[in-house]
Amino acid sequence: MNNTYTELANALNSNLGSCVAFRVLSERGKKIYFPHKGILGQSAEAKGAEINATIGTAFEDDGTPLMLQIVKNAFAMPDHIIHAGFLYQPSFGKALLRKKWAEMLSKKNKNLQNIKFSEPVVTAALTHALSVSAGLFLNPGDTVIIPDLYWDNYDLIFCETYGAQIKTFNTFKNGSFDVAALAAALEEGGNGKKVVLLNFPNNPTGYTVTETEANEICEVLKACAQKGSDVVVLLDDAYFGLVYEHGIYKESLFGLLANAHENLLAVKLDGPTKEDYVWGFRIGFITFAFHGASVLQLKA
Ligand SMILES: Cc1ncc(COP(=O)(O)O)c(C=O)c1O
Repeated sequence: MNNTYTELANALNSNLGSCVAFRVLSERGKKIYFPHKGILGQSAEAKGAEINATIGTAFEDDGTPLMLQIVKNAFAMPDHIIHAGFLYQPSFGKALLRKKWAEMLSKKNKNLQNIKFSEPVVTAALTHALSVSAGLFLNPGDTVIIPDLYWDNYDLIFCETYGAQIKTFNTFKNGSFDVAALAAALEEGGNGKKVVLLNFPNNPTGYTVTETEANEICEVLKACAQKGSDVVVLLDDAYFGLVYEHGIYKESLFGLLANAHENLLAVKLDGPTKEDYVWGFRIGFITFAFHGASVLQLKA
């Protein structure tokens, strides 16, 4: 790896200090950097300069983005909205969209109100969010703990693509979520890094945990962190909100886990695809939270 790139990655990692978000990164995750001293950095510097000689977006003489008329005609919207849509956007997503999604998370999850969480990072829907999470947190050979009734694409994402292995636990016992089986799966192998993936409402069973089960699951995860493990909880909230029965937990477990423990990193993976019935949009988000997280003052 080029030394400059290693330095950039190390500088970013040092911003995280020794918190759980750094400790649980995979080797690949630790090598990731934002090449802000390269082309993207030059583009940022050029913003607002008298002459922008960088490539990326082509503009008309009046400063509006250059658009093919046939494409523009497809949008019946005010010009300023069309222009905003055509402009180049940061790789981690449009600032306004990220802010809006964060506001919606707080609105839809009462348990998240007054709790700090990261700005959501935009992905190409849930599948990409899952894949990015696997890349960030799993080394080849690492284990992901998942209930044994799970969406079959997890095999492709976690095992085939990233070389991790899936360890399942019993999903149901006597018609309820088998919280004890989750606890036993976490116990196996003693303390260490534990990556757990939970998906409610669940595909393929359609099951969503009750309020009691939601609290019990979070207690079990918190206890594991308290005993000294670093716990990453990936919450696949693809079907968030599709909950109608009384007594069923209507919020994301993210609200209960976001501030649970300094050794527990809660990672919410969601998006409007199914939540807002816009299947073709293929937009998703990854949002992070842990107890003690603070706003990062970037050193690099
Ligand atoms: C549990 C679960 N997670 C993730 C996805 C993928 O969602 P997306 O289409 O937003 O990538 C699906 C799609 O069926 C799913 O059932």
